[in-house]
Amino acid sequence: MHIVSDETTQIADMVLDYARRRLLSTDTPLDKPFSPAELARLASGSIGESGIGARRALALFENVLAPSCITTDHPQYLSFIPSAPTKAATAFDLVVSATAVYGGSWLEGSGAVFAENEVLRFLAREFGLPASAGGVFVQGGTVGNLSALVAARDQRARQLSEAGRARPDRWVVVCGGEAHSSIVSAAHVMDIDVAIVATGESGSLRGADVEPALVEHGDAVIAVVTTAGSTNFGIVDDIDSIAALKDAHDFWLHVDGAYGLAAMLAPGSRHRFAGVERADSLIVDPHKWLFAPFDACALIYRDPDHGRLAHTQHAEYLDTLTEAADYNPSDYAIQLTRRARGLPLWFSLATFGAEAYREAIEISIDLARQIADEIARRPYLRLVREPQLSVVVFERDGWDARDYAAWSDRLLDDQHAFVVASSHAGRPNTRFAIVNPTTTFEQLVAILDTMG
Ligand SMILES: Cc1ncc(COP(=O)(O)O)c(C=O)c1O
Repeated sequence: MHIVSDETTQIADMVLDYARRRLLSTDTPLDKPFSPAELARLASGSIGESGIGARRALALFENVLAPSCITTDHPQYLSFIPSAPTKAATAFDLVVSATAVYGGSWLEGSGAVFAENEVLRFLAREFGLPASAGGVFVQGGTVGNLSALVAARDQRARQLSEAGRARPDRWVVVCGGEAHSSIVSAAHVMDIDVAIVATGESGSLRGADVEPALVEHGDAVIAVVTTAGSTNFGIVDDIDSIAALKDAHDFWLHVDGAYGLAAMLAPGSRHRFAGVERADSLIVDPHKWLFAPFDACALIYRDPDHGRLAHTQHAEYLDTLTEAADYNPSDYAIQLTRRARGLPLWFSLATFGAEAYREAIEISIDLARQIADEIARRPYLRLVREPQLSVVVFERDGWDARDYAAWSDRLLDDQHAFVVASSHAGRPNTRFAIVNPTTTFEQLVAILDTMG
């Protein structure tokens, strides 16, 4: 299995040929999930004491397993937050595996760590953070948010201890009602409380909403989490007014920009993110709107030392790494062994340049605006909110949750589109989340036509 032989050469050729065909295909269908019974019938029995051979295993993947996975980078995949990796980024993901790079330490992966840090530095500059900012690519926004909050708590605890002040009984994280579910999940993992602040009709958290929570919880507040592009609506909090509270209150500002912060690269949307430059930590997911394959979240600290102090693992067998002055990405989040998952973005960004990214992001923002206008023109549809970024939420007159679900199932059964039902404040709705620059206005209009 490990040596280069005729057999392993043939296997590599076969797999690379399949990957090439899939990557460059222009007509991969949306596909859809199979039932457990169907998959049991079609695909069980592949694992045994003797192998089934690469040809059969690959055929099983190509003909059964892959078609039962929805194509998340299909232009008509418009649910949740889709993916839209560039061809270069996906192709380079194969290289990351082929080179067996270890991305956890400078000693083992200096070139990879250097390239990932180039990308983090580029992003930090775009977001207005100082040149000393830094961090690490982690698996996703959930781990990024959790790692940032753990660093924030660690910093707060150190601060209180140095000042000779008592630790509170319970730590608190403050966020708005539209914050992503991963914030509450992180709080569960950390066994801390969440103060959810009401945001009013706009859904955008403002400084005036946050200040009473800072006064009420005082030293117990480990961080205020602002959302730079909410998942449901793409709403950006009023980060500037929240950051301004730092003048009077001492708190860690975390910006969850997993989906939306990418839009700061688009000149027309940059103004929405004023205040991000004062963040103590932030995240943005390249697997969402920075056109990288799963899975990658850029976690950046204003002062990376806060991340390092909170997260470095200590053991005799790690002393060689931790006692050196090197930059070891493992030290900046909840992880040890890590894939150099920032490299696909590095390669694509280096290949095409930032301008191509700005333009590609702008395309989805423009399309969201255009389709929102079209929705507003149709008497049987109602826009729930004006889009800020590239999520458009709308209702169909007279439909209840079952109608949306049946319509959504039909769209997928017909292989037309993947648009799931959603809801807001107890009212069912649906949404287009657009991050794929190949999605067209005509495709979206054709979906609206099915609701008439
Ligand atoms: C605003 C926001 N934060 C965090 C996350 C979690 O990211 P991930 O799914 O990569 O863990 C998401 C995912 O959609 C998100 O939209």
